[in-house]
Amino acid sequence: MEFYTELMYALREWQTRRKDVKTILFERKATLPERDFPQFHQNLKGVIENYTELEAVLAKYSNLPIDKYQTNHKLYMLIAIYGLLYLRKADYAITSQIVEIIKQSTPGLAGMSNGILRSIGRDKEALQAQPMADSIHPELHDALAADYTERDVAQYMELAREKAPIDLLCFKDRLLVQADLAGRGFDTELLPYAKHGLRMTGNIQGLFDDEAFLRGDIYIQSEMSQVVGSLIDQTQGKFVLDLAAAPGGKSFSMWRHDPSRQYTLNDVTREKADKIQQNLRRLNLNKLRVTIFDATRIVGRWIGSFDVVLIDAPCSGSGILVKQVEAKLDRNKKQIDEMTKRQAAMLDHAAKYVKKQGFLIYSTCSILRGENEDRIDQFLKDHPGFRLEQIQLDPVLLDGPYLKTTPFDGQFEGFFAAILRKVD
Ligand SMILES: C[S@@+](CC[C@H](N)C(=O)[O-])C[C@H]1O[C@@H](n2cnc3c(N)ncnc32)[C@H](O)[C@@H]1O
Repeated sequence: MEFYTELMYALREWQTRRKDVKTILFERKATLPERDFPQFHQNLKGVIENYTELEAVLAKYSNLPIDKYQTNHKLYMLIAIYGLLYLRKADYAITSQIVEIIKQSTPGLAGMSNGILRSIGRDKEALQAQPMADSIHPELHDALAADYTERDVAQYMELAREKAPIDLLCFKDRLLVQADLAGRGFDTELLPYAKHGLRMTGNIQGLFDDEAFLRGDIYIQSEMSQVVGSLIDQTQGKFVLDLAAAPGGKSFSMWRHDPSRQYTLNDVTREKADKIQQNLRRLNLNKLRVTIFDATRIVGRWIGSFDVVLIDAPCSGSGILVKQVEAKLDRNKKQIDEMTKRQAAMLDHAAKYVKKQGFLIYSTCSILRGENEDRIDQFLKDHPGFRLEQIQLDPVLLDGPYLKTTPFDGQFEGFFAAILRKVD
């Protein structure tokens, strides 16, 4: 097989099947011509190590948003960009070989790909001199700068280039899970603010094939998401609705904190519901129900039916840019405004599903006031029958009545949550 095609498939195995780089290299060593192997090795590791940066360069030069690329096409582009920016090969050789491959599989994309790669080749020196630390959509940058200081934002952009830690929600006592994982070379530490959580501190290669993962002992979930799930402990009542649930994380954390409730997990499409079901099967959580409704419309049969409704709202993701390459690069003002409208509609409808004396929990992984405090202020104006509750957590996680963390010093992800109670 052609060298770059083989490289693209190897990257696919790493990315979509989460295969170890070591295993991929071991397998390719047996099949590739001996003279090609060192170059293959260098390219594979290079693309993987610089993946975020390469995506950022592609996003900057491409009119098509990078989440719209087909996997193969995107990987070919990243291989070419890596070659242009990191290897000494003549620019035209890499570009023309990759464009030729793209032309054979999807002729319609060859012209666009060629244009992007040639522009990157032209700007090569500037790109090499200036890493993509500021690779964030300017309108998202402006939105952040309106709420925070330039220094905070600059520090955050620096951090946003780093890799996020991997945290685990444990479905057995976390000390037992920790000891079990350690026995197979996976080192972890206890998460300080999430009582069922561990953080991976060393190797993660092979974690997704590990028996603890396959058995459903662990779910990958950040510390702050786990903390949002723990808010279930500050509510009462049996029936809980997670209105925007996929892939299910907040509900899994709520269940782990209080398995005695009855949980309904809703999301908007069949695909999203399937994703929840898939996780429920692996985690052996067969008592949780899954529904498919559009939360921006009223669902008549839910009115007055739930003791607790969680809206973990679709948002800009501005609190977790370390993880969200697409959000970082594509999020413009229009998108943020649309999200804000959707959040308001979801809150309005959810208010009707809450029983008297019941609770509405609103959370986001955003740090923008417009998606957080402003939404709650507006909600309270429009719904005088609701009262804002004081959240009870370690004070470092709080801002007044809210759970609110910011990501500027790298200790936390940026999260927000409010608890509202229907008193009238
Ligand atoms: C922040 S994510 C939820 C993450 C999830 N709670 C978790 O912790 O794993 C927001 C979710 O809102 C869903 N969503 C977006 N629009 C929706 C709508 N109109 N109705 C219901 N769900 C919607 C998205 O599909 C997405 O899964």
